[in-house]
Amino acid sequence: MFRERNIFIGCLIVLCSGNCFAKVSPDYIKPCPGLKSECLVKNVQETIPLFVKGIPSLGINSTDPLYSDRVDLELPGGLKINFRDGVVTGFKKCVIESASYNDLDAQLAFRCNITIKGKYTAAGRVLIVQINGDGDAKIKSPNIHLNAKLKFEDVTRDGVVYRTVKDYKVDYKFLDRVSFVFTNLFKGEPALSETVLKFLNENWKQVVDEFGKPVVETIIRLTFDNIKTFFKSIPKEELIVE
Ligand SMILES: *[C@@H]1O[C@H](CO)[C@@H](O)[C@H](O)[C@H]1NC(C)=O
Ligand SMILES: *[C@@H]1O[C@H](CO)[C@@H](O)[C@H](O)[C@H]1NC(C)=O
Repeated sequence: MFRERNIFIGCLIVLCSGNCFAKVSPDYIKPCPGLKSECLVKNVQETIPLFVKGIPSLGINSTDPLYSDRVDLELPGGLKINFRDGVVTGFKKCVIESASYNDLDAQLAFRCNITIKGKYTAAGRVLIVQINGDGDAKIKSPNIHLNAKLKFEDVTRDGVVYRTVKDYKVDYKFLDRVSFVFTNLFKGEPALSETVLKFLNENWKQVVDEFGKPVVETIIRLTFDNIKTFFKSIPKEELIVE
């Protein structure tokens, strides 16, 4: 009887060592004891190039490249822009400037060079010019400064506590010139297209002010979808060591 029971427990231990107590998080995730800023900056920085590849086992998509939904804008002046097949690259090289974590609030400041490529159609007035375009788009934005504030909350699922992202807010600033390449801004008129493209690049600040927000907000939302899935899937005890 005793012996049978011991064999049973022995088997359980052997089976479990492979599975039952396995960590959910990838091996590169290292918690910061005490959640000190210095450790957070270092760990987040080291984690970024790995995290951006995605974590298929947790259903987390790639963040670099990031594949974007359609972005459809219709602006008050009547300008319609459709942006599709968007691919955003650059997040893997973001540089973390500061990170802090207190209670259930986290803050993260970082700089990135981001490139967006895709297809666009646009019809209507941009600044002072009338366009009717359909072509390829490439937007390069070096040196974007981002400041993210996250609020967490603990959620228990099947007896396991997860520290999930309840809310976030991201402020951003373009510290350097944003440049655009849009082919075919005027259907079938390359010389005019070239002139208007030059004009848009010279006035990049106004262009970004008028049209940048929906594009940037889509990118931020997709990125945070990945971050939210991460915290929703990995037990708190694997991430937070007070
Ligand atoms: C991952 O990407 C696919 C296709 O772009 C999308 O349908 C899905 O909702 C994304 N999953 C998550 C968890 O964001
Ligand atoms: C962005 O690109 C510039 C110029 O290529 C480079 O000097 C800078 O270090 C890059 N910044 C980041 C955050 O990768």
